[in-house]
Amino acid sequence: MTKLLLRALAGETLPTPPIWMMRQAGRYLPEYRATRAQAGDFLSLCYNPDLAAEVTLQPIRRFGFDAAILFADILLIPQALGADLWFVTGEGPRLSTVTSASDLARLKPADQVDAQLAPVYETLQILSRELPRETALIGFAGAPWTVATYMVAGRGTKDQGPAHLLKDQDRATFAALIDLITDATIHYLSRQIEAGAEVVKLFDSWAGSLKGQDFDDFAIAPAKRIIAALKARHPGVPVIAFPREAGERYVGFRAAVGADCVALDNSVSTDWAARHVQTEGCVQGNMDPRHMVTGGPELVAEAQRITRALRGGPHVFNLGHGITPDADPDNVARMIEAVRSA
Ligand code: CP3
Repeated sequence: MTKLLLRALAGETLPTPPIWMMRQAGRYLPEYRATRAQAGDFLSLCYNPDLAAEVTLQPIRRFGFDAAILFADILLIPQALGADLWFVTGEGPRLSTVTSASDLARLKPADQVDAQLAPVYETLQILSRELPRETALIGFAGAPWTVATYMVAGRGTKDQGPAHLLKDQDRATFAALIDLITDATIHYLSRQIEAGAEVVKLFDSWAGSLKGQDFDDFAIAPAKRIIAALKARHPGVPVIAFPREAGERYVGFRAAVGADCVALDNSVSTDWAARHVQTEGCVQGNMDPRHMVTGGPELVAEAQRITRALRGGPHVFNLGHGITPDADPDNVARMIEAVRSA
């Protein structure tokens, strides 16, 4: 019996799509909040293999998703490269900034990230022992552009202004930063696969702010290099790429980077994606996470509409972005039931 997620990622059209949810382990779940309180802060939870495995398993036990996603964060890579990282409650991440060639020179080489990241590999080892046999295990990393936006600004930004500024004023330094993150990501994801990840996903949450040649240079080229290196080392391990808000650049993206599946955000029309993106291969998505808060008959109708619209080709059901802390867990159960009965 091949796991449902792996079948969809191999290009199979299935009567019922596999389902999982971005941020499925998170603050909307009381059991997550309890384990997080036990760990202390968010980063302590990420680096505690037993507790990180526990929160990864919680949504599997509660909802029976077809896949579990490693509990960690895309900003562990900057930290492993030597950046300071902390989270301010209610505000989000803060990092020491990289805005010049001399800042860049102070970071560690890409192959020296393991000392910091070893607990993440251990989390995956625990999960590959403990997950139900039908549940696929997904590892992940941030795509280089998105990780760079946080490293340059030292925090999340609405418009990624500081990263754009460095890219436009000192392209050589910016490109060298992208290269370093790319190399570290290849190393990190390779180790995740060796520790038990059966699928990997690249999160390019801010891909939509890259236009024209910048999109080719900083969204496509690094993803293509990461995926080619992973495919050479670990043939057969599928990759999901998520160029969030790429808009029309979703067309051709999967093939351009060599991924097995492209994840759609919720700004993309499902019918448009069925005609222009799914005809090229597997798609993931793309329900608006706001339905997990509002619920009601609209939730059921929307989950079934998406399932039916993408039934003609390979599809992985998911949200278009992460579930939010104010979501009602009962709505998640209703969404799953709606998809599986569509
Ligand atoms: O999807 C999953 O459940 C797997 C784990 C995961 C987390 N973050 C856990 C997390 C994954 C895949 C991520 C990815 C991530 N992290 C992204 C890319 C995807 C996206 O959402 O666009 C980004 C940009 C980050 C960086 C990050 N981490 C931010 C901006 C924040 C703060 C936002 C907030 O809601 O406070 C985080 C924190 C974070 N990462 C939480 C979780 C469960 C909340 C932490 C907590 O418990 O307080």
